[in-house]
Amino acid sequence: MSFRTIEWRGDKVVMIDQTKLPTEEVYNEYSDFQGVAEAIRGMIIRGAPAIGVAAAMGVALGARDIIADTHESFFRQLSNVCDVLARTRPTAVNLFWAIERMKRVAEANRDKDINSIRAILKAEAIAVEAEDLQICKAIGANGAALIKDGATVLTHCNAGGLATAGYGTALGVIRAAHESGKKIKVIADETRPWLQGARLTAWELMKDNIPVTLISDNMAGWLMQNGEIDCCVVGADRIAANGDTANKIGTYSVAVLAKEHRIPFYVAAPISTLDLSLDSGAKIPIEERTITEVTQIKGIQIAPEGVKVRNPAFDVTPARYVTAIITEKGVAHGDYLESLSALAKG
Ligand code: MRU
Repeated sequence: MSFRTIEWRGDKVVMIDQTKLPTEEVYNEYSDFQGVAEAIRGMIIRGAPAIGVAAAMGVALGARDIIADTHESFFRQLSNVCDVLARTRPTAVNLFWAIERMKRVAEANRDKDINSIRAILKAEAIAVEAEDLQICKAIGANGAALIKDGATVLTHCNAGGLATAGYGTALGVIRAAHESGKKIKVIADETRPWLQGARLTAWELMKDNIPVTLISDNMAGWLMQNGEIDCCVVGADRIAANGDTANKIGTYSVAVLAKEHRIPFYVAAPISTLDLSLDSGAKIPIEERTITEVTQIKGIQIAPEGVKVRNPAFDVTPARYVTAIITEKGVAHGDYLESLSALAKG
């Protein structure tokens, strides 16, 4: 990749600032867990798997800085670090998955001295990042076969290298198909209100010389009606046991349009995005973000002052609209209750 989304460098965590792309390529350094929590909340880093990596690194930074004479004190403070990170964003389950993984590792090493536990947590966070890259490559390899040579693929939001440790989930599938020699064209929805598609997906695909055309969200139906889209591939923030999928607001509209036009609609996500504890998508918490994301563009007011606004950041696409779910362990389809749990069990 020609950029690094997040990495542990020296004694700091370094992230590309996604609020500044595509006009500025700036890398921010974080030396404490509070900074990492703020970066997740403020969408310096965003995208479900990338948020998971950031949370793991945040826990490791927090563990490093705890002042404690006893294990009781260390573990009490570590639990506080985890709570702060867990309160940043509610929808992407990878955040909670990563924090739980870090807690489990700490607990499993409780018999060691505190400095050893700190070192083990740092190594674990770095492993979460390295594994995520490998997982994205496996998702890409599993999904590439579904994309026909010459296909035009619509994607929504950014489920690319910027949303992961690198390579991407939905964009991983597209990258793998492209790398295999298929002539793929991408249609990127701009993804109002935060513009992940316009700012991030277009940027990273152009960097990789993958043909991309940007549209505003309300153009997708027209393109489908005119036979200009062959399939859709999107990422996910949380997938319930029955296959209902939470992803960036607007994904549901794309899925309904795709079904109307008999266009395959694929979801690409790691197993860590499955939340098998939820029987349906109705139970997935949906983040509501500040109204200025809707009323302003780059600080410029575009709506009347005082207008009532809604800003749900995600929606849930019912499983019946999803043709298949592509994971690093294989592709689930049909009865998701069965196929997803079989994949999760490995
Ligand atoms: O609000 P964001 O930008 O964090 O939302 C991101 C998405 O909805 C992505 O599509 C999803 O996290 C999948 S990322 C591989």
